[in-house]
Amino acid sequence: MRDTPPKRVAIVGPGALGCLLATALCRIGGEEIWVLDHDSRRAALLQHSGLTLEYADRCEHFPIQATADARLIGPVDLVLLCVKSPALRRTLPSLLPLLTEKTLLLAWQNGIGHLPFLLGAQLPCALALAVTSLGAHLLGPGRVRFGGAGATTLGFLGEAPREARQALDGAAELLRLAGLEARVDKDILAQIWNKLLVNVGINALTAIYHCENGELLRKPEALGLMRAAVQEAAGVAQAKGIAIAPDPVARTIAVCRATASNISSMLQDVRQKRQTEIEAINGAVLEEAGRLGIPAPVNAELVDAVKSLEKTYFPG
Ligand code: PAF
Repeated sequence: MRDTPPKRVAIVGPGALGCLLATALCRIGGEEIWVLDHDSRRAALLQHSGLTLEYADRCEHFPIQATADARLIGPVDLVLLCVKSPALRRTLPSLLPLLTEKTLLLAWQNGIGHLPFLLGAQLPCALALAVTSLGAHLLGPGRVRFGGAGATTLGFLGEAPREARQALDGAAELLRLAGLEARVDKDILAQIWNKLLVNVGINALTAIYHCENGELLRKPEALGLMRAAVQEAAGVAQAKGIAIAPDPVARTIAVCRATASNISSMLQDVRQKRQTEIEAINGAVLEEAGRLGIPAPVNAELVDAVKSLEKTYFPG
C-alpha cells in the first residue's frame, strides 16, 4: 500500500529546525502548512513576511500561514513539534485544538529529558519521535540558514496501532517528498541515544569554550572532556540495555568534523541568552546514571558549568 502523506500540517515553534522544516514542506506545495508560535508578534511578522531559507549562494522565500492561536488552525493530520525541551510544558496545552485521535504528533527535541513528560502527557492522539542530524541556524525571525543535509529517523516508543503506523509512514513520505532523507525505524530509542551521545560530547563543550564545533578537536582539554563525557553516557546506555552503535566517541568526533563550522544549538542558546537544553542532554544522562548507581563526574561538571553560564543572564 502506498503511504498517504498528510494534507494539513502544523509546525510548532519557528526556531531553526521548525523554520527549516516549514520551508521544505512549503516547497512541495499542495499541502496546507501552518506555523504555530507562542509569540503573537513574531507570528504576525511571519504571516506578513513569510520564511526565508539561506544557502551559501542563494536565498529562497516562502509565504506562510502563521498564528499564535491554535484554534485558528483547528485539527491537523500532522504536528511537527519543534520547540526545545525546556518549552514543552508550556507549549503542550496550547496544541489541543490541533489534535484529534487521527492526528500524529511528531516530537523533534534533542536529548532524552522530554521523553517521560511526553509519554505521561495523556495526549488525545498518537505520539512518535523524530531524530535528525539536519543542520540549521536561525538568523532572525523566520530567517534560517541551511546548515547541512542529514538523515532523519522516525519511530514510536513501543507498539502503535495500525492507523498510527500508517500515519507515520505518511509523515516519512511527506519528508522525502520535501527532499529530506527520512525513514521509519523500529528501535527509535537506540537512535535517540545515538544522537544524545553526540550532543553529550559537543553541545555543552561548545557553550563552555564558546567555539564552533570543529574547534573542540583542536583543544586537547576539551577533547579529553568530550571523550570522557561520551564514554560515561555510553556506559549508562549499555547498562540500560540500549543497542547503541559502536564507538560513540569516534562518531562524535566525526560529527564534530562534519559540522566543523557550526555554532551548536547550545552555543546559539547561550549567545541569545536563552535557557539551554543542558537538563535534557547531559543532565538527563546524569539522572539516569544516578538511578543506576553509575558515576558520571564529567557530565556533572558540564551540567554545572553550563548552568553557571545560564545564571549570568538568566538568574531565575
Ligand atoms: O545540537 C546541535 O547543534 C547539533 O545536534 C550538532 C550535531 C551538535 C551539530 O551542531
